[in-house]
Amino acid sequence: MESIRLINVLKQYDDGKVTALNRINLSIEEGSFISIIGPSGSGKSTLLNMLGALDKPDSGEIIINGIDLTKQKDLSDFRRNEIGFIFQLHNLIPNLKVEENVEIPLIGSNLSEKEKKRRASVFIEAVGLLDKKNDKPNKLSGGQRQRVAIARSLVNLPSIILADEPTGSLDTKTGMKILNLLKHIREVIGATLIIVTHDNNIARLADRTIEIRDGEIISDKYNYHR
Ligand SMILES: Nc1ncnc2c1ncn2[C@@H]1O[C@H](COP(=O)(O)OP(=O)(O)OP(=O)(O)O)[C@@H](O)[C@H]1O
Ligand SMILES: [Mg+2]
Repeated sequence: MESIRLINVLKQYDDGKVTALNRINLSIEEGSFISIIGPSGSGKSTLLNMLGALDKPDSGEIIINGIDLTKQKDLSDFRRNEIGFIFQLHNLIPNLKVEENVEIPLIGSNLSEKEKKRRASVFIEAVGLLDKKNDKPNKLSGGQRQRVAIARSLVNLPSIILADEPTGSLDTKTGMKILNLLKHIREVIGATLIIVTHDNNIARLADRTIEIRDGEIISDKYNYHR
């Protein structure tokens, strides 16, 4: 089943001087793993922000799980219930413990405090950091911080995980480990995973790779794995 559909999505900045997305059309199947590649400034983060309802296009439609996001007034419930976002800079909150950082997406949900803690623990354990649960981010390595950001993006059991350069600041080996972890967890929770990456080895792990340049899709192909 198709879970995401973009129709003629246009996004410009600076009074139309910059076209970040130039009437993009795209369908993404539910549960699939997609990678997005392209040079710096090509529109990758803009596209991800649209999919995560962090920003709205100037025109066009974005239909996710049957809802046209461009026609919704308040997208905060949609974001809280459906989206897990791993940002380009993982931006953990420095004065909160690992556990508290992971609980952030559950703020405003109607889960009990105990259930929030339990949920956070499940995902902190899944990323292998249970022993760091009470540490602040500045005591962690880059890879460990990125694992916290992954746990945080999953704690609300999203149907769509959006990851903007989740391995960008890591060495190749750690990056590969993080990606395989993300891939594994998304299989367990059955989510659609969309990652932006500069790394072709990581892009190739996805079912399908979409390449954008100057705000347009210039190639879209399936990857075959043995
Ligand atoms: N808030 C903004 N205001 C003005 N221009 C913007 C804004 N955000 C993005 N842009 C412009 O839109 C274009 C696409 O930017 P975007 O951040 O989507 O690129 P990207 O592919 O994610 O690049 P990178 O690989 O460097 O992260 C660029 O030309 C950028 O300068
Ligand atoms: Mg970007």
